[in-house]
Amino acid sequence: MKMLFGGVLLALIPAFALGADVTAPDWAYPAQDRNAPRARDDGQPKHVPGSDQSYTAREVGNFFGVKDWFPNERPPMPDVVQNGRRPDVRACAGCHLPNGLGHPESADLSGLNPEYFFQQVKDFQSGKRHNVIPARSNGMVTIAKALTDDEIKAAAAYFASLKPTTWVKVQEAATVPVTYVGGGNMRFVKPDGGTEPIADRIIEVPQDAERAELRDPHSGFIAYVPPGSIKKGEELVTTGGNGKTISCSACHGPDLKGLGNVPAIAGLHPIYIVRQLLDIQQGARDATATQLMKPVVAKLGEDDIVAIAAYVASRNP
Ligand code: HEC
Ligand code: HEC
Repeated sequence: MKMLFGGVLLALIPAFALGADVTAPDWAYPAQDRNAPRARDDGQPKHVPGSDQSYTAREVGNFFGVKDWFPNERPPMPDVVQNGRRPDVRACAGCHLPNGLGHPESADLSGLNPEYFFQQVKDFQSGKRHNVIPARSNGMVTIAKALTDDEIKAAAAYFASLKPTTWVKVQEAATVPVTYVGGGNMRFVKPDGGTEPIADRIIEVPQDAERAELRDPHSGFIAYVPPGSIKKGEELVTTGGNGKTISCSACHGPDLKGLGNVPAIAGLHPIYIVRQLLDIQQGARDATATQLMKPVVAKLGEDDIVAIAAYVASRNP
């Protein structure tokens, strides 16, 4: 049954309930498929277009000494960002990348307000912030708990200094490539997998799988969103949709680029936005500042959240 219909069922049922009343659609909370093909390290030096560096796959995957393909494009990384600290502090740039833009399964930290940044790490430490599937955010929580305040401040200052750029191309599509979740919880197009209906999901994949696996900071992502979702999201975000939510710009700034210590949200990974809105709605993210977001998400259905994420992610950061 599962073998024959698994793919179809997944396409038809975008969300599944975990326990009594937890909503965590698997497309927004990717977890590595057990049978996913594993990237093989052939030990050969790799290259990415435009860089004169060369690193092996093993070097690229080292969380205690992150390589930068383009070190001249940004200030030097502080020790904690590049090298982490054994045993528990894996280097921030391993997941969030030296350019801060991150992967869909982690978070975009580029240009983030440093006060907001600091507080988020404190919230991961205190248990006030995690995903509705706690196991999914355990990696970040373990790292946060091991960090000193000085390390958080150094990382916050570094990421705040980086300029956010368009990293995710948002595109409406009725059908999407069949995908799987591979190593590091990243979703990839399945080779020769054909297509399937998008079915109220957001499917975010690398623009170039090999370059994403090599953590090439010049190769971003593409997010397929349901037809009509960007316009529907625009209506909700800009007007509040007749009381369904609250217009976002009052707090997040006119172009959603942040205001004071309220974070920028324009151009973030759309599946990250979905996770945050669902985590906040269901109380998994529940710190002091989060209370301001409670009325924003209280009445939103999953289709509204998809539309809002599609629109916000499509805005220039
Ligand atoms: C193993 C991967 C991984 C590493 C390494 C990592 N993070 Fe994270 N980080 C995550 C994930 C996953 C999230 C949360 C995504 C979510 O909520 O769905 C996150 C979220 C964050 C956020 C919240 C961003 C926001 O917009 O609210 C901050 C801040 C952060 N990380 C800081 C750090 C710092 C500082 C380091 C290095 C000391 C670090 N991270 C290392 C995976 C990682
Ligand atoms: C009343 C003020 C207010 C309004 C209105 C508001 N927000 Fe927020 N938002 C916040 C604050 C404050 C935070 C930080 C919460 C925290 O620290 O936990 C936040 C956090 C977020 C985050 C998480 C950002 C990250 O990096 O993790 C997202 C996504 C978000 N808001 C989306 C929206 C959207 C979309 C709207 C409009 C539909 C909206 N917000 C309206 C105040 C607001």
